[in-house]
Amino acid sequence: MQQEMFQMVATTSHGLEEVLAEELKAIDAKKIVIHKRAVSFVGDTYMMYKANYTLRTALRILKPIASFRAKDEDALYRQIQKLDWTQLIGLTDTFAINTAVFSDIFTHSKYVALKSKDAIVDLFREKTGKRPNVKLFQPTIRIHIRVFNDQFDISLDSSCESLHKRGYRLENFKAPINEVLAAGMIKLSGWNMDSVFIDPMCGSGTILAEAALMAYQIPPQKYRDYFGFMNWKDFDESTWMDVKQEAHAHEKETFEHRLLGFDVAFQAIRMSQRNFERIGMLDKIELKRKDFERHTPPAVEKGIVVMNPPYGERIEADYEINAFYAMIGDQLKDAYTNYDVWMISSNKEALKCVGLRPSSKNTLFNGALECKFQCYKMYEGSLKAKNQGQIEVEEVE
Ligand SMILES: C[S@@+](CC[C@H](N)C(=O)[O-])C[C@H]1O[C@@H](n2cnc3c(N)ncnc32)[C@H](O)[C@@H]1O
Repeated sequence: MQQEMFQMVATTSHGLEEVLAEELKAIDAKKIVIHKRAVSFVGDTYMMYKANYTLRTALRILKPIASFRAKDEDALYRQIQKLDWTQLIGLTDTFAINTAVFSDIFTHSKYVALKSKDAIVDLFREKTGKRPNVKLFQPTIRIHIRVFNDQFDISLDSSCESLHKRGYRLENFKAPINEVLAAGMIKLSGWNMDSVFIDPMCGSGTILAEAALMAYQIPPQKYRDYFGFMNWKDFDESTWMDVKQEAHAHEKETFEHRLLGFDVAFQAIRMSQRNFERIGMLDKIELKRKDFERHTPPAVEKGIVVMNPPYGERIEADYEINAFYAMIGDQLKDAYTNYDVWMISSNKEALKCVGLRPSSKNTLFNGALECKFQCYKMYEGSLKAKNQGQIEVEEVE
């Protein structure tokens, strides 16, 4: 039987919209349109479950349920009450409201959430004499309200908690990168899973874990057992089972290239080990304690490095941060021939000290920090040329 088709919105981080659109195309979503930090698409319930389970660069999958205009808080209250919330939320449910507000009229996002919550709760009281409770963390129902000037878009959040919470990373070392950003960086790097992959400053191992999940075609949410749609009144368990079965049918037993992780800190290596163990990847990722400055990666015809060095907080070896980035540049020139080296950092001054001209640049956000994510192509010949006294790697003055 053909299922009903409806519109959805997958949210993401700044700079990952296009890779998310590619992912949606690959799972056969229809009417894909790129927006700022989001991609809208059309699909059925199967597609909604599949988007939650298999997309690596989506943060949430929203299902729009209403749109209206409201010029003040009373109008907002009345419009919210026009929806029959008792069909969507049960008395034993808990709920939370997330807001994204871009408006000169409504300037406090918390106030929009509060007013909308009051409208829902009052409606319940009038209709049933009772009301469901609010719960901010893992409620059974999460509502998303986007406000642009006086335009309100109300959605149900089918993910409920952000999809970067994959359920495998329980250990964090220093400044871990979020899983969605890590997956997005790997996709932007163009790694086609056809070469060695290295993170030489791996911390708690997020980038490598995401690379391994891709390499073995394991759905990113395999280790998560919590999604908002599971609490909806129309949850279809058998469709959900079909989605999981189909996603798992593509898993691979083997991967022909090496996945390598290094870090100068023993503690980071131990945390990575424990995180990899949780996704069954401990024996599939080679991990070693190594100082970047004194380590040479395997000689290859081609390879990818994706790294997230410290941005300038106090770092182990008591280097000055600019000198640390200069050391990275020297080491890349000396030892990383034939690698495409992708590096993310918010420290633009320090990045200049790498001393290599990036072949491409993206702007990404690591949390609130605006970062550059850039590639240094370490061409064959640069090492030979350097040994002959003429460095061919393009250098920045
Ligand atoms: C920002 S953290 C990386 C976080 C990681 N992406 C994650 O998700 O957990 C930077 C890492 O660089 C490591 N590091 C600093 N100096 C290093 C060096 N000289 N050689 C190798 N690793 C180094 C630190 O120990 C730290 O784990």
